[in-house]
Amino acid sequence: MKVVVGPDPSLIYRPDMGTEAAKDKGSFRNYTSGPLLDRVFATYKLMHTHQTVDFVRKKHAQFGSFSCNKMTVMEAVDMLDSLVDESDPDVDFPNSFHAFQTAEGIRKAHPDKDWFHLVGLLHDLGKVLALWGEPQWAVVGDTFPVGCRPQASVVFCDSTFQENPDLWDPRYSSELGMYQPHCGLENVLMSWGHDEYLYQMMRFNKFSLPPEAFYMIRFHSFYPWHTGGDYRQLCSQRDLDMLPWVQEFNKFDLYTKCPDLPDVDKLRPYYQELIDKYCPGVLSW
Ligand SMILES: [Fe+2]
Ligand SMILES: [Fe+2]
Repeated sequence: MKVVVGPDPSLIYRPDMGTEAAKDKGSFRNYTSGPLLDRVFATYKLMHTHQTVDFVRKKHAQFGSFSCNKMTVMEAVDMLDSLVDESDPDVDFPNSFHAFQTAEGIRKAHPDKDWFHLVGLLHDLGKVLALWGEPQWAVVGDTFPVGCRPQASVVFCDSTFQENPDLWDPRYSSELGMYQPHCGLENVLMSWGHDEYLYQMMRFNKFSLPPEAFYMIRFHSFYPWHTGGDYRQLCSQRDLDMLPWVQEFNKFDLYTKCPDLPDVDKLRPYYQELIDKYCPGVLSW
């Protein structure tokens, strides 16, 4: 089965790319004009209209029993290859290359942390949601807390939330919304997507990875926080302690359209060992 999914908007459009990137005409200009930007905007418009407290709770209930599929981690990595963006001329290699490229980047920089290498391989596996019919705006793109007013660094913040009913609900529309100050991000309901799904899946299947690994995966698309610097009023000390890990991971996740494709077949045995160590066997998805 081939499922067509648009490019991950979180990797296509970065409002924080700034002047350095703007100088790079070869890449930046392509992202700021024409049909690609329209599509990215359309995805965020849908996301910011329909990701509500109610919607996210329903998705937790729908996917929280992990009865969609039984498969190993490596089978999920291979499954990502059927997620193809047929409309993006830049991405003509299988999606799983991004997983291996991210993992190998981390491995080079952190040779002693094998669990971190595995995080690179795992981090986008939640995108299998798209194979089960979930729309792109509920799978990919930047995430943000629902249940409180979106902050300035959320992409297209000023032009995409007008039709979100939560913003007209006094419980959810103040700066803190339904949260207590510094309640900790673990107590915050994030917009639904591949981050939260995979985090919950890893807990359900009892992955024996360190807390940093769970944390990086859960919040890797929370750009308004880890890059934008917003939502500090919801953070606990633990979140601030974890922030450097998320930022370190982000370096390897970004700019993945690298023409040097890794020799995946050579890499498989190493990563299979890590899978056998931290998350072996057939898992519930
Ligand atoms: Fe991701
Ligand atoms: Fe990624």
